[in-house]
Amino acid sequence: MCGIVGYVGHQSAGPILLEGLQRLEYRGYDSSGIAVLDRDGSLAVLKRQGKLRDLEAAIVAMPSGGAGIGHTRWATHGVPSDRNAHPHASSSGDVIVVQNGIVENYRSLKAELEQTLAAQGRSWLSDTDTEVIPELIARELARGQMFEEALQAAIARLRGANAIAAFHRADPTRIYAARKGSAGGMVIGYGDGEMFLASDLPALLPHTTDVYHLEDGEIAVIDSQGALIHRADRPRHRPEPRQVDLDPVAVARGPYRHFMLKEIFEQPRALSDTIRGRARLDPPSALADEFEISDATLRSVERVLVIGMGTSLHAAMIGRWWIEQIAGIPADFDNASEFRFRAPVIGPATLVVSVTQSGETIDTLGAMDHVRDRWGAPQIVVTNVEGSEATRKADASILMRCGPEVGVASTKTFLGSLAALYLLACRIGKARGSLGDADLGEALEQLLTSPSLVERGLALSDQCNEIARSYTGSTNFLVLGRGIEHPLAMEAALKCKEISYVHAEGYAAGEMKHGPIALLDQQFPVIALATRGPLFDKMMSAIQQVSARRAPVIAVGDEGDDELAGLVDHYIGVPPASDLLTPFALTPVIQLLAYHIALARGLDIDQPRNLAKTVTVE
Ligand code: M6R
Repeated sequence: MCGIVGYVGHQSAGPILLEGLQRLEYRGYDSSGIAVLDRDGSLAVLKRQGKLRDLEAAIVAMPSGGAGIGHTRWATHGVPSDRNAHPHASSSGDVIVVQNGIVENYRSLKAELEQTLAAQGRSWLSDTDTEVIPELIARELARGQMFEEALQAAIARLRGANAIAAFHRADPTRIYAARKGSAGGMVIGYGDGEMFLASDLPALLPHTTDVYHLEDGEIAVIDSQGALIHRADRPRHRPEPRQVDLDPVAVARGPYRHFMLKEIFEQPRALSDTIRGRARLDPPSALADEFEISDATLRSVERVLVIGMGTSLHAAMIGRWWIEQIAGIPADFDNASEFRFRAPVIGPATLVVSVTQSGETIDTLGAMDHVRDRWGAPQIVVTNVEGSEATRKADASILMRCGPEVGVASTKTFLGSLAALYLLACRIGKARGSLGDADLGEALEQLLTSPSLVERGLALSDQCNEIARSYTGSTNFLVLGRGIEHPLAMEAALKCKEISYVHAEGYAAGEMKHGPIALLDQQFPVIALATRGPLFDKMMSAIQQVSARRAPVIAVGDEGDDELAGLVDHYIGVPPASDLLTPFALTPVIQLLAYHIALARGLDIDQPRNLAKTVTVE
C-alpha cells in the first residue's frame, strides 16, 4: 500500500527521500512524489505516474534543502496520474501533505471547502480524497492556530484511518507526522542531528536503528534534534527511541534475482528462528514462555476460531486443522473481511486467533475490533511485525521471526505462521490435558524436523523451473488437494494468480466433479497435491478422472512414488512427511512452481501489478 518518507536535518533531503521510497517499493504503488523545502523557503514538488525511475528521470536537478516528505501512491480515489500523485498542497501552496489511508467523508469536506476555494477563484487540483487535508490545515492556520494544532483539528474532521506527513512552507526546520486508526505504520528514526520518518522500517534501516513507532491518535513535531509527541488526552512528551534488532542486510536482495526467491530460500532459517526456544522436549512444552494468555483461559474456551486474509487465511485453514487434530478442540476458520461485517455468534468462550504477517491488514484489524466490541473473547495474534497494530489489539502475540519480507507475495511468513500455529495447537492441547506428554513430545519432535523438510523441497527448484517452462503459455490451472493439502492447493492457486497473472483455482479434489471438471481439456493443466496421506487413494481417483479428460497433470507426491509418477505427465517427489507435517514438505514446491511460471512469462515478480504488500484500505 502507499508509502511515506520524511527527512529533516543537515543533509540534502531529496536523495534521502528517493532512496527511502525505493526501499518501500515492495509495498506496491502506481505513482510517486517528493516535496523538498530549502532553508530560504524555496519549495520543489515533483510527482510522476509510474515507477520511481520515472520520478528520478523527471528530476533535472535534485532539489537541495534540509526538509522534505515523499510518497508512493497506490490509487484509491482518482486514477494513477501525475496530478493525483502525492504530495498535495493547499490552494495557497503553503501546506504540503502526503497521506496513507482513505478520507471516507472527503465528498462532504470538499463540498464544505469548495465555497472558500471558489471565493478565492481557486479549484481542486486533483481527484483525490487527500487534497482536503492540506486545505483543512490551511483553514485552521488562517484562524491563528499553530501547525500541530491545525493538523490535530484537521484530523478530527476526517473519517477513516489515516497516516499523514506534512510541513509548512514557512518553516524549513520541521516536518509533522500523524496517525489515526489503522492506516499502516509510521516510524520515526533518530539520527545524529537529523531525523527520519517512514511508514515502514526498511526505509530507515540504512540510517538508524533507533526508532519510535507513532501510536494511534499521536501527532509528532519533528526537527533535526528529535520529536515532540502531542495527543489530545495526554501531556506532550519526548519519546525514548527503542533500538530495533534488524539487520539492514536482511532487506537487501543479495545474489538472488528477486526478493521472492530469496525469501523462499530463507524459509528453513525463518522456521528454525520461529521455533527456537519454543518447542522443548525435556520435559515437553510449547510456547511455555512469553505467552500472556493463561492455561486457565485456554482450558475455559470451548472453541477456537482462526481468521486472516489471503495467504494468512490459508495458514488459518491449516491452523484450524492442527488445532482440531493436535489439541482436540472444535476449531474453525473465517475470512476476516466477511466475518467483520456479519453478526457471527462466537460467544466469550471462543479463542480468536488472527493471522497477519504485517499486523496491519485493515480487514483483520476490523475483525479483531468486532470480536472485542461484541464478544470480549480472548484474542491471540500471529504476526511477523512486533509493535504492529494487531499486537496492540490482541491479548497475546506469537511473533514469527522471519525477518522483513519484501516480496509482495507472502512466502516465508506463510511458513512462519504455520510454525506459530502448530506451536499454539500444542500449547492448547497441553493446557487442556488433551495432549499427554508423550504425544506432545512426538508432535514437537516432528516440528523440529520442518526446516530440513523445507530445505529438501528447495532442492527441487530446477525441476520446478523445467516443468514451469512447459506451461508458460497456459492461461488456466486447476490445483487440487484434499485434507490438509486443500488449503495448500488454494495457496498454490493464489501464488499463480498474484505473480504469474495466470487464472488458477484451488479446489478440494472431492469438489471437482461437482462442476470444475467441465472446464478440463488438453489446454487446462491440473496440479495435483497427492502425498501418501489418508486420502491418497481418493486423490488417485481424482487424478484418473482428470487424465480421462486429457488434461495434463503435474503431480506433487512423495519421493519415489512410482505408481503416481506412472499416472501423470509430470511428477515432483517431495520428502515424505507425516500427515501433520505435509504443509512443510509441499510449500516450497508450490511457491517455486508459481515463481518459475512468472519468471518464464517475464513478469515483475516482486511488485505484481495492482497489488500491495499490506492492505490498509478497504
Ligand atoms: O499482512 P497479512 O498477512 O494480513 O496480509 C494478508 C494478505 O493481504 C496477504 O496474505 C496477501 O494475500 C499476499 N499478497 C499473498 O501472497
